[in-house]
Amino acid sequence: MTPQDLMKQEVGKAAAARVQSNSIVGLGTGSTTAFAIEYIGKRLAAGEITNVKGIPTSFQATVLARQYGIPLTTLDEVDRIDIAIDGADEVDPNKNLIKGGGAAHTQEKVIDALAAQFIVVVDNTKLVDKLGSTFLLPVEVIPMAVTPVMKAIEKLGGKPQLRMGIKKAGPVVTDQGNLVIDVKFDSIDNPAELEKTLNNIPGVLENGLFVGVADLILVGEVKGDQVIIKEM
Ligand code: A5P
Repeated sequence: MTPQDLMKQEVGKAAAARVQSNSIVGLGTGSTTAFAIEYIGKRLAAGEITNVKGIPTSFQATVLARQYGIPLTTLDEVDRIDIAIDGADEVDPNKNLIKGGGAAHTQEKVIDALAAQFIVVVDNTKLVDKLGSTFLLPVEVIPMAVTPVMKAIEKLGGKPQLRMGIKKAGPVVTDQGNLVIDVKFDSIDNPAELEKTLNNIPGVLENGLFVGVADLILVGEVKGDQVIIKEM
């Protein structure tokens, strides 16, 4: 395992340890959350916790939950989400996030925002002073609106590019059947305003700015030959 994978594993484990019996858990998407899902499943199998149900944020989370034996439910069947665990692509000092590296940010935002407690799991390479400094901002768009949305984004000063598939010809198609535009902004000075402005463009379903949603950030960091977990 690389040091980064080790950080992801340990931070995922630390978040899974916070899941309590009789709870509804939002299951995020990505390689870090995958470890959290694995350890929630292991705790259930060991009888350490009981009566836990997951609500997945993507096909990936659904597949992993099934693999690790976590019973699933839906937003139509529950009246609360106790805790959500999810990764992020960037985290700023105000706990605002960029998400969507896995094109799952639309469902993630619904579930993470509904949770009584939203825990973000990241390794320390994800911490930035300002959002947008290392990662492009993902915007999910309905297919017929891609061209006008790209033009509208250019007018806002962004440089948009359509996300293309890997080992799949053509663009990435989201779990909702939409496309993703990744946008480079020179400087995201007001994430809250940009989040609203982008979502106001006709044809945009959701963007990857998560402002004021995260309650706790768990950060994995390598110290010597150990991984320590810091809280933010
Ligand atoms: C999925 O669309 C994303 O929001 C992920 O949660 C994010 O990309 C973090 O993924 P990793 O844990 O794989 O870096």
